[in-house]
Amino acid sequence: MTAAAVGGDDDSGHHGSSGLRNTWRVQMVSGELDLTGLRRVYGRPGSRLFYRAVCRNARHWGWTEPGQSKWRCWRAQRQLEGVLGRKLALPAGSRVLDAGCGSGVVARELARRFGVRVTGVDVLDFHVREARRLSVRAALEDRTTFSWGDYHDLEFADGSFDGAYSMETLVHAYDPARALAEFHRVLRPGGRLVLLGPVGAPREEMSPEGRAVLGPYLDAMSFPGAKRYDTRSLNELLIGAGFRIEEALDATARYRPTSDALYAYFRAPYALLRLFGPAERWLGMRSVVEMYQIRDYVSWYVHTAVKP
Ligand SMILES: C[S@@+](CC[C@H](N)C(=O)[O-])C[C@H]1O[C@@H](n2cnc3c(N)ncnc32)[C@H](O)[C@@H]1O
Repeated sequence: MTAAAVGGDDDSGHHGSSGLRNTWRVQMVSGELDLTGLRRVYGRPGSRLFYRAVCRNARHWGWTEPGQSKWRCWRAQRQLEGVLGRKLALPAGSRVLDAGCGSGVVARELARRFGVRVTGVDVLDFHVREARRLSVRAALEDRTTFSWGDYHDLEFADGSFDGAYSMETLVHAYDPARALAEFHRVLRPGGRLVLLGPVGAPREEMSPEGRAVLGPYLDAMSFPGAKRYDTRSLNELLIGAGFRIEEALDATARYRPTSDALYAYFRAPYALLRLFGPAERWLGMRSVVEMYQIRDYVSWYVHTAVKP
């Protein structure tokens, strides 16, 4: 394990006896897993309320087709999951890893619509618990399983999966090259990887003003990975991990409408809430507002790759 694990309470304050690693806290050690930062981003009441009420438990952007209204963000999210399922292009029954599953919305959509069996891992214990609960409620617990795990250091045997995906999670990686190598290890030969998420412009192409906006945003959102790759270097990282890239799709135009709509919805409420407390209380909304402000420096990519 790359980070020091020390016994501790989970977020509910109870000492776990389930035997799961979710009752352990992993402390940041020399630039490694920043669990404190991730808990700050996703665990605050304001963030949890935002993701539950606004995003219906999904923690990802959306895909809008040309000519569609930008205001229907939930439809855009379902469309993005459809894009992911089609890029994975795996037959029903295939074993698929969801690296950074959050509440398991994506896993359940893939299980329901494409018939795959998804194993989700997430480093936040409350996300794992929520994912399990929601899968039971959706009667999908036979096709979706969730466990605590750091995707840099997975507990699955080599070649365990036919497919793997990361929906907007690689930005959190403290070592993206290592995470990609781990995805490669747990895939069987011929296994498919789909990576979706924002990718920053090379820093040398950004104005000083752009860098000044981007840096604090990445720190606040606990996005160390986003500092370690950019639109030029992500392909090399994938190839370095052993993948053959099938497609590197710049899908920024499909993502932008969601960004525009969310900004329009939340700019004023966020400004109002800021009067009553620091931005850290409202990181979900802050993410929406600041992602819009740095939109000229961010592209949205869908990478599809194969383990030869
Ligand atoms: C933006 S959310 C996306 C969640 C989910 N993929 C979705 O689309 O709803 C990023 C997720 O990655 C998880 N995460 C961050 N670093 C991780 C790591 N090293 N290992 C496993 N999960 C991680 C976070 O806890 C969070 O749930």
